[in-house]
Amino acid sequence: MEIRLDGKTAVVTGASKGIGKAIAAALAYSGANIVLSSRKQASLEQAVDDIRAAAPPGSSIGEMLAIAAHAGDAAQADACVAATVERFGGVDILVNNAATNPYMGPTLAISEAQFDKTVQVNWKGPLLWAQSCWNRSMRRRGGAILNIASIGGLSVETSIGIYNGTKAALLHLTRTLAAELAPGVRVNAIAPGLVKTDMARALWEPNEHALARHVPMRRLGEPEDIAAAAVFLCSDEASWITGTTTVVDGGMLLRA
Ligand SMILES: NC(=O)c1ccc[n+]([C@@H]2O[C@H](COP(=O)([O-])OP(=O)(O)OC[C@H]3O[C@@H](n4cnc5c(N)ncnc54)[C@H](OP(=O)(O)O)[C@@H]3O)[C@@H](O)[C@H]2O)c1
Repeated sequence: MEIRLDGKTAVVTGASKGIGKAIAAALAYSGANIVLSSRKQASLEQAVDDIRAAAPPGSSIGEMLAIAAHAGDAAQADACVAATVERFGGVDILVNNAATNPYMGPTLAISEAQFDKTVQVNWKGPLLWAQSCWNRSMRRRGGAILNIASIGGLSVETSIGIYNGTKAALLHLTRTLAAELAPGVRVNAIAPGLVKTDMARALWEPNEHALARHVPMRRLGEPEDIAAAAVFLCSDEASWITGTTTVVDGGMLLRA
């Protein structure tokens, strides 16, 4: 099955690298127009160039626009969505992918500033972007929202309790919004396992092969593993799927 998204417009947060960049690329290669957002404009423009350069030969890819915004800032999120609507006429797909993890260690030792930052970007952020997309476009023309959570939101790890707590909260928000925004807007989540990106580098780089031996599928995740599921969930082929969490983890959760 070839999934095409021609004529649709997607906003992807945290799109300058890692999983967000792979999702932006996969959506663009499926024909959607993409607004890539994260905090640094230069990194976003580099990502646009990279995605264009790596496009499959002869493929018809969507237009791409880079707009910097802090994912946890209501005014910046709304300005980005407003610019998207101005440029493309609306937003059909929102991928809430940006997240942060400023602290690892015993849960009770996290500082108030680290706690607030984690909640601001990982939990409040997706709500802010969903509010803006709903108010400016999706209320009228429908759409699909995809929240990138984590298998940490479905399990307990002693060293990243608050990060995982924001991901559990994001999964709950996914279900609540799915119930409230149906039938016009579908809301789903992906819960990735350990994926080889900068955010998780401290976890995988020192001992990738040892870790992979404990993964049922015998390898760690690549950003493209998440992007493939994302394209499906954002497409009309998934039009009867809402309020769900798709675990993409090579089976890691089976051993948690
Ligand atoms: N990698 C994993 O193993 C793993 C596992 C489970 C879930 N996830 C989830 O997957 C998503 C993507 O993570 P990743 O591993 O791809 O991370 P990554 O490679 O570190 O990329 C993070 C992206 O988010 C952006 N970002 C960070 N803080 C931001 C903020 N305050 N406002 C706007 N953009 C911000 C970064 O760009 P700037 O710094 O330029 O803003 C970058 O584009 C996250 O939701 C993460 O929690 C990852």
